[in-house]
Amino acid sequence: MSNCKITAVANQKGGVGKTSTTWNLGYALAKEGQRVLLCDFDPQSNLSMVFGIEQPEAITPSMHDILGAVLQNETLPESAAYIQKSNKPGLTLDIIPSNINLAAAEINLRDEMGGEHTLSELLNPLRGEYEKILIDTNPYLGLLTINALAACDDVIIPVSPQLWSATGLTDLLQTITKVKRKINPKIEINGILLTLCDERTRLFKEAKALLDDNYGEKIKIFDTHIPNTIKVGEANYVSLSVVEHDPSNKAAIAYTNLAREVIGNE
Ligand SMILES: Nc1ncnc2c1ncn2[C@@H]1O[C@H](COP(=O)(O)OP(=O)(O)OP(=O)(O)O)[C@@H](O)[C@H]1O
Ligand SMILES: [Mg+2]
Repeated sequence: MSNCKITAVANQKGGVGKTSTTWNLGYALAKEGQRVLLCDFDPQSNLSMVFGIEQPEAITPSMHDILGAVLQNETLPESAAYIQKSNKPGLTLDIIPSNINLAAAEINLRDEMGGEHTLSELLNPLRGEYEKILIDTNPYLGLLTINALAACDDVIIPVSPQLWSATGLTDLLQTITKVKRKINPKIEINGILLTLCDERTRLFKEAKALLDDNYGEKIKIFDTHIPNTIKVGEANYVSLSVVEHDPSNKAAIAYTNLAREVIGNE
């Protein structure tokens, strides 16, 4: 049996650090020796761009094409046709990129029987090649995110104290419960991750207390918090992990610690 874990990074709230977490956690896990596949499941294709793909719109076959082939029961091309490898020496950090066409896939997923399992059908055969598959999701609780939740073993939920939304988190947790009941009984919450944190501020302390009080008993809240630092955006911009860009930076250290926490909990 493969020991691959598929983890979706999800929160329908925009800008909470889903993509930055997928990228930097993916890098840090690869640095810890795991074979990692990133899956960009957001038509905005931010993860693909951070990975270093300059023209996601030119990708063929695109995620949309591959999902279409899965939906139509067609034979898929070799995985090398749709998986790109990073140029990071000694690391296995690959990606299935996406582009804007993925937005159109949402309609097909809705119209086809069993459409919510399409990503699962694409990723399951790849479990033998990787130890971790991380899915970056889009900021909307639609069928793309449902597909990611149907495909995963567990979910990391990034939450930002600045963009705190208690109702948003409740909606997401309810959706995960529904997915567990109806389409993916094995789904678990890997943990809630505080991102974009300024630990000395009242806002951070209040958000942390609210999370601990309301969810701490039922859901893991990661001990690691990701600090708010301009270096994360800078690193994204030059297609580097913050761990490579500035190894002594507090976010670089935090993402390395998060990787160890994630591995320790497996
Ligand atoms: N730890 C951090 N410190 C400072 N800035 C950060 C940090 N993490 C992410 N950012 C910045 O915040 C913005 C949003 O981050 P990111 O794109 O990772 O969020 P997202 O949840 O994926 O957004 P979307 O919902 O649009 O997909 C980006 O400009 C990113 O560079
Ligand atoms: Mg994103």
